[in-house]
Amino acid sequence: MPEAKAYAAASAKSPLALTKIPRREPGANDVQLEILFTGVCHSDLHTVRNEWSSFMPTVYPAVPGHEIVGRVAKVGKEVKKLKVGDIGAVGCLVDSDGTCPECKDGLEQFCANATFTYNGQDKKLGGVTYGGYSDSVVVDERFVLRVPKGLDHAGAAPLLCAGITTYSPMKHWGVKKGKKVGVVGLGGLGHMGVKFARALGAHVVVFTTSPNKKEDALRLGAHEVVLSKDANEMAKQLGSFDFILDAVSADHDVNAYLNLLRRDGNLTLVGAPEKPFPISAFGLIMGRRSLSGSPIGGIAETQEMLDFCGKNNIVSDVEIIPIQKINEAYERLLKSDVKYRFSIDMASLKAE
Ligand SMILES: NC(=O)c1ccc[n+]([C@@H]2O[C@H](COP(=O)([O-])OP(=O)(O)OC[C@H]3O[C@@H](n4cnc5c(N)ncnc54)[C@H](OP(=O)(O)O)[C@@H]3O)[C@@H](O)[C@H]2O)c1
Ligand SMILES: [Zn+2]
Ligand SMILES: [Zn+2]
Repeated sequence: MPEAKAYAAASAKSPLALTKIPRREPGANDVQLEILFTGVCHSDLHTVRNEWSSFMPTVYPAVPGHEIVGRVAKVGKEVKKLKVGDIGAVGCLVDSDGTCPECKDGLEQFCANATFTYNGQDKKLGGVTYGGYSDSVVVDERFVLRVPKGLDHAGAAPLLCAGITTYSPMKHWGVKKGKKVGVVGLGGLGHMGVKFARALGAHVVVFTTSPNKKEDALRLGAHEVVLSKDANEMAKQLGSFDFILDAVSADHDVNAYLNLLRRDGNLTLVGAPEKPFPISAFGLIMGRRSLSGSPIGGIAETQEMLDFCGKNNIVSDVEIIPIQKINEAYERLLKSDVKYRFSIDMASLKAE
């Protein structure tokens, strides 16, 4: 069995450390990527620390990473999408049944038999799936995306989760010119949300708890920035939004944002904090507002998003780190101290 180098957590309390993991020999429909960059998603941290134990308990050792850009190293004989040397990408999904109504609609993210890139059930090798904090990965070509030429590889990696997770609900809820859109939390997801909302033509307002991010928010494309702890600033925005994307990773008051929606406005949660929170019925009743959630996106829409980024020259703002700094990076994520996504340079893993 071929092996790959990887960084794994042995338990919810362990730091990530070097290990070896099995990777399958590419089959007829498989693509093997030599991983160049992997983005660091807050979901990696939630998973490593088993913070989603009630929904999807973590299986250890856990190798996170679902924002992967790599160079095609090998292809199976049936593979048509990519050839050796091409730049490919893998996001949060590596397989699905392909036969259910969700898959037939091209919405693999809703397939009951979808396989997540990490902490999923590996239907080919058995055991658990291992993600992109690794030097290579083998994935069915149906789940490998093409990276448009010209996009910076380190900045493109986060598009595979932070990008699609913010693009998909904005398309679904009709974000376009003439709409007022809020983005709550200027982290990895939030900063991509700002870029997409602006590129789609909306009036964009960022809500942040970090005063030092104000200038960045404007530079990233926001028309206005609101410090969410300032009650006066919040009050000025009451009842005015068509759509709000909540990308906060921790406990916060969602009701404050429901009140900012206008009639028939929608608040979509993409952030997935550990603990449930209370919702005021009147915040929804008055104004016929809606509250929903949205997970990542399907493969076709992920390619559409990448192509949109290619055309509009959109990538994530990244701080490139060696894999050896990953535990430090997690601590900084918890302090909202990242501008605005860590992208791991996997060349650093070769040195170990
Ligand atoms: N739905 C999906 O499919 C999906 C996909 C990927 C990630 N996620 C989830 O989305 C969330 C965000 O992920 P991310 O990678 O963007 O995380 P991140 O980079 O850590 O950003 C989270 C941001 O939330 C804000 N925040 C943090 N703690 C807060 C608090 N106590 N109160 C208010 N705001 C706070 C901060 O923004 P400010 O400094 O601007 O306040 C922070 O930068 C995570 O829960 C992640 O698991 C969901
Ligand atoms: Zn993610
Ligand atoms: Zn399916």
